[in-house]
Amino acid sequence: MRKKYYLTTPLYYVNDKPHIGHSYTNIAVDAMARYQRSKREEVFFLTGTDEHGKKVEQAAEERGFTGQVLADQMVVRFQDLWKRLNISNNEFIRTTEKRHKMAVGAVFKKLLEKGDIYKGEYEGWYCTPCETFLTETQAENNLCPDCRRPLEKLKEESYFFKMSGYEKKLLEHLENNPDFIIPHSRYNEVVSFVKGGLTDLSISRTNFQWGIPVPGDPKHIIYVWFDALLNYITVAGYGVENKKLEELWPADIHFMGKDILKFHAVIWPAILFALGLELPKHIAAHGWWTVDKKKMSKSLGNVVDPIEMIERFGVDQYRYFLLREIPFGSDGDFSIDLLIKRINGDLANDLGNLLNRTLVMIEKYNEGMVPEKGTPQNELKVMLDDVLPKFNKAMEGVQFSEALTEIWRLVRLANKYIDTQAPWKLIKEGKKDEASAVLFDLAEALRITAILIYPFMPESSEKIFSQLGLTVNSDKILLEEAVWGKFPPKTKTIRGNPIFPRIEK
Ligand code: MSP
Repeated sequence: MRKKYYLTTPLYYVNDKPHIGHSYTNIAVDAMARYQRSKREEVFFLTGTDEHGKKVEQAAEERGFTGQVLADQMVVRFQDLWKRLNISNNEFIRTTEKRHKMAVGAVFKKLLEKGDIYKGEYEGWYCTPCETFLTETQAENNLCPDCRRPLEKLKEESYFFKMSGYEKKLLEHLENNPDFIIPHSRYNEVVSFVKGGLTDLSISRTNFQWGIPVPGDPKHIIYVWFDALLNYITVAGYGVENKKLEELWPADIHFMGKDILKFHAVIWPAILFALGLELPKHIAAHGWWTVDKKKMSKSLGNVVDPIEMIERFGVDQYRYFLLREIPFGSDGDFSIDLLIKRINGDLANDLGNLLNRTLVMIEKYNEGMVPEKGTPQNELKVMLDDVLPKFNKAMEGVQFSEALTEIWRLVRLANKYIDTQAPWKLIKEGKKDEASAVLFDLAEALRITAILIYPFMPESSEKIFSQLGLTVNSDKILLEEAVWGKFPPKTKTIRGNPIFPRIEK
């Protein structure tokens, strides 16, 4: 049996509708999923919603709903957004589904029997917006060290997960797998956190209702993070389908924002150790988006709605901007000005123009047929030989902006090539064959560009193919076709509208 390439996004809380921060994670994972598929990996891409917990319960109460009603309303907003953004997830999980509740119950029972879960008393602080427990020293001035909002003091009976028992094993794993955490800059942060000592984790609460009850002790509700993290194995059929588990587990990459790295790099591995399961191969944490240099918040009224951005600027334009603008792992600032700059520069001027100029010349000088032979050893081919390995290295290392920068070296050189080769001059001088060869080279550079941009801009990739006169099923775009000289003979181009219209301010 061939193991699938398993990619995950975090599960989004349903206390509010999605914004650009959420869309960024899913677009990043989608780019990786499409890239791996173009390399013939059988990808399994999972996303979903985190529907339990005090935060969702509170949001529901404020609206006069039950948690379930709020979740049912909000989940649609996420699902719709993923469709609009061409997110190619293979499955969607909601933590309120029966299969998930069963898996969580089974895990709880197993660890209780094993002695990895025990009952005790929790005394400390809780931050509801972050759904996090905090110790006395972390809770300076009764404020959350992360979100700076007021904390709630708790003193209640609670079940605990013996996380302390896995400190050594986790440190060993981190030492033996320096590429466990992507980007590496976050690795030391996790190592020193674990070295600081792991304490047992409170994993049940008694002062709210909206969640999965502890099996046999229903006044305890399972801590929302303990519940949510398990989704990654619920979907892999944990406790139900061994075959599916073997097919999917371990996950290849869990993607998330840096704010929730510790849950994935510390708590989750400890749970997996306790269950006797392998750890995911990689955990990739991206940076945080601000808007016009400010934290997005309802009170500031600066929350960016992805749907509005797509409607104004286009899906691929939005996807491109987010992945190109900042290196994966770094924080980024979103602004309409920067978005327009990227659209007019990289997309309209560079790529859109290259397509348009090439097709116009093919119509004018070769009756709309792509010539059959190019220039031997031309500079575009030489550039491709340099770009391709760097592009692949960047993609494998989850460096999307670097991968795009590589593609643009080819695109920009192709635009220059038009000017330096000046096919119109060659025609005037009676060098028709030379002019044709240049046109072939340009069409070929565009065909290969269409393959390389596919993970980022699937619709535009398809548009380039079809304007070049090539029929392609975008699900069948293969990286192995990005080899110089494969442009099919006797292809008639079909020039259409500019694929990236300029945005006038
Ligand atoms: N429900 C948990 C995850 C459970 S996973 C088993 C959660 N949900 S969340 O909705 O608050 O956040 C989900 C993801 O969105 C996180 O990866 C977070 O980093 C990302 N983002 C939310 N706001 C963001 C920005 N402003 N910028 C970038 N990403 C941000 O945490």
